Amino acid sequence: MSNGLEDVVAAQTILSDVDGLAGRLIIRGQPLDALTGHVSYEQVLALLWDGFFADLPRDLTTPLADARAAVYGTVEREQSLLAELPVYDGVRALMARLPDGTDLETALLLTAAPAVALPAAIRLQAGKSLRAPQPGLGHAADMLSMLGDRPADPAAAAALDSYLVTVVDHGLNASTFAARVVASTLAGLNSSALAALGALKGPRHGGALGPVLDMLDAIGTADKAAAWIENELANGRRLMGFGHRIYRVRDPRADVLKAALERLTRSGAVDTARVELAQHVEAVALAALKRHKPDRVLATNVEFYPALLLETLGFPRSAFTAIFAASRIGGWIAHAREEAANGRLIRPKSLYVGPVPRVAA
Ligand code: ACO
Repeated sequence: MSNGLEDVVAAQTILSDVDGLAGRLIIRGQPLDALTGHVSYEQVLALLWDGFFADLPRDLTTPLADARAAVYGTVEREQSLLAELPVYDGVRALMARLPDGTDLETALLLTAAPAVALPAAIRLQAGKSLRAPQPGLGHAADMLSMLGDRPADPAAAAALDSYLVTVVDHGLNASTFAARVVASTLAGLNSSALAALGALKGPRHGGALGPVLDMLDAIGTADKAAAWIENELANGRRLMGFGHRIYRVRDPRADVLKAALERLTRSGAVDTARVELAQHVEAVALAALKRHKPDRVLATNVEFYPALLLETLGFPRSAFTAIFAASRIGGWIAHAREEAANGRLIRPKSLYVGPVPRVAA
């Protein structure tokens, strides 16, 4: 048995490869830094989904915009779900209202769903009215346009697009594995997506984004960082935004997203004092982790800098994990299709360590 399935290979995939020693991520043959900042979310979707839908068009911009419009109809009807539930749970409940097919139309609706439901939930919970998607916009720009009170600034849309591209797929992470387990039973894409959404929510996976900002708030100023971090580690608590099962070096996504944040800084939108605090906290945390856990390389992971990026774009921290889902849904769908096409039922064994019935003498 391998605790946490560490080092177990449980799927063969053409979708992405995570090299934890070299700190390299490849998505369908392309290194991450050739994608982030160079292609749109729609383009990376087309790359990932290539070969998994017979009717896949080359350009997904219009079909995805049409899907956002269709999902908006469901959002209008289900406003109470989004107004009342915590943002992530509302997005998941909204997605559960969508079809559970295995075709391209289902895939597009599921991909559009978090992008439309998330801004709607934020607006409804702030007492604002809904803003409809705009057919002429790209996916990231439309998300921001549905969120804000005016059209999105191009630099902000580019930064969100970079985030969506960067986290779209990442080997057999916990949520993708959950999606593949469900797909191996030949259930529909929505069933896979809902299972994956459940897995992504936890703080050991996609739920660390908001707590990164909670940590920066608790530290407050750079001079308090060392004492705060020492106290956390001395009390056995984990530092959010650090550590990874696969990477033994810095997560390459942390670097490309730090660069995206720097591009946004040049546009004047970023609170530079906050970024400087984050950089200081990162350096202090890395040194402290090295001292406290000398046998385990604990480096900055993908949650640290995006937390600042998403905050700058105007998203409340309660929505961060749902934005992660709005990207990763594209990867989940590709993996679910790949698993259903090639895999067998995923059904491992457990080691029973409980009591055994007594045999009568
Ligand atoms: N802070 C302090 N200690 C840590 C951290 C951390 N962030 N991460 C791991 N450790 C320690 C553990 O306490 C453990 O120490 P021990 O052996 O003395 O008990 C050791 O490092 C190994 O930890 P594991 O839990 O076995 O490592 P695993 O590979 O399972 O954990 C994980 C990976 C869950 C991401 C972990 O590093 C963590 O909890 N990080 C903080 C939360 C976080 O940033 N989550 C986002 C992950 S990125 C993503 O999923 C997109």
